[in-house]
Amino acid sequence: MKSVYIRGNASLYGEVTIQGSKNAALPIMAAALLVPGVCVLRNCPRIADVEHMCRILENIGCRVDRVEREIRIDAAQLTESRLPKKYVTRMRSSVMLMGPLLGRLGEVSLSHPGGCVIGDRPIDLHVKALSRMGVACQDDGEELTAVSCGLRGTTLRLDYPSVGATENVIMAAVAADGVTCLENCAQEPEIGWLCDFLVHCGASIVQKGPGRLLIRGQGGLHPCIYTIPSDRIVAGTYLCACLAAGGEALLKGAPCGENDALEKAARQMGAGLKRTQDGLWVRRAGPLLAPGKIETGSFPAFPTDLQSPLLVAMAQAEGESSLRETVFNGRFGVVEELNRMGAGIEVEKDTARVPGGRRLSGKRVRASELRGGAALVIAGLCAEGETLVENRSYVDRGYEDICRDLRFLGACVQDG
Ligand code: UD1
Repeated sequence: MKSVYIRGNASLYGEVTIQGSKNAALPIMAAALLVPGVCVLRNCPRIADVEHMCRILENIGCRVDRVEREIRIDAAQLTESRLPKKYVTRMRSSVMLMGPLLGRLGEVSLSHPGGCVIGDRPIDLHVKALSRMGVACQDDGEELTAVSCGLRGTTLRLDYPSVGATENVIMAAVAADGVTCLENCAQEPEIGWLCDFLVHCGASIVQKGPGRLLIRGQGGLHPCIYTIPSDRIVAGTYLCACLAAGGEALLKGAPCGENDALEKAARQMGAGLKRTQDGLWVRRAGPLLAPGKIETGSFPAFPTDLQSPLLVAMAQAEGESSLRETVFNGRFGVVEELNRMGAGIEVEKDTARVPGGRRLSGKRVRASELRGGAALVIAGLCAEGETLVENRSYVDRGYEDICRDLRFLGACVQDG
């Protein structure tokens, strides 16, 4: 498997353009199934998960054409409701095809979805919500089959604001009979982008207060041309890299208002941030301060996807800090590798205690999931000597080319 080679101990200086958002692109690609025509999606990131989604859509009867970052999805001839196991087991996001396939074909069957190894990832909330909309689900342990003789709008409240379950309900509700009132739904920016895409296609979706959506199922969606927004997690990763390694960077096109929790932590740590028309300037010249206690949570709280990159910056800070993970129960897997580099992090239950002020040393380390892999690359930037991050394919699931991007920031990073 390919690796990332990093020569460490150098600050970052430069400009990098932030790629299109993975977590916005995937559900919007799924939502294109609701439209019997050709949707054009621009600025789609060139990453493995988007490729997998293209293959799944082709397998179920769509025509998918891709030129650079533009993807045209023609779902007019959608025929197949069984999702191909090969891709479903590799990518958790395939679960979000349930809503649109139920809407278009009235049925869907899929193997249990895969994805990053970051803790338990059940789909009970998806199943429970769709059942309330008139879907009969059967799970034989290997495959989940869901059938509907007509989706119906209803009032439903999610037990937890799951991002994927919210997206599935929105897509099913757009195709349902009547009005769906969805309460306690996720408020991540990607929910807003999905709704925005669907509204561009003619859907009626209105936000009625925080975590509450009113969706009028009315069918008859029409195709549209839509530009995928920039990726807040990629922008946040490079912000963490600049915090940890020091320097000054322009994150071109970094989203505005989507990373407030991280930006607050970065300021506490002594970084200067300035928003201009071009994006976000990050400057960390002086000492890096410990941010104290940080806790992940649903938006607008600190995003779980940036927990591992922030851990690396915390390890470089002067003084102790702690990071509590409340979203996924297995997301400190990267700590073992960071500790091999000298981070000295202690994990107790859901909280990582980071002593700070540690000089990391370059090592051969191994990624075991997407964001943890990116965190190891950042650790390599700060470390004394050379680092090789193996299992790069995990990182490629979410970053178009992390080596290219970090080279734009002046780092000495190469494909290994
Ligand atoms: C999405 C994001 C992922 C991010 C996560 C949380 C995409 C493609 N992925 O993942 O990058 O880390 O949101 O912000 O957008 N849960 C259940 N039952 C369910 C569904 C979820 O118990 O049926 C639990 C999960 O195990 C987890 C928590 O809810 O502990 C959050 O999961 P969820 O919000 O659904 O995340 P994803 O949509 O999978």
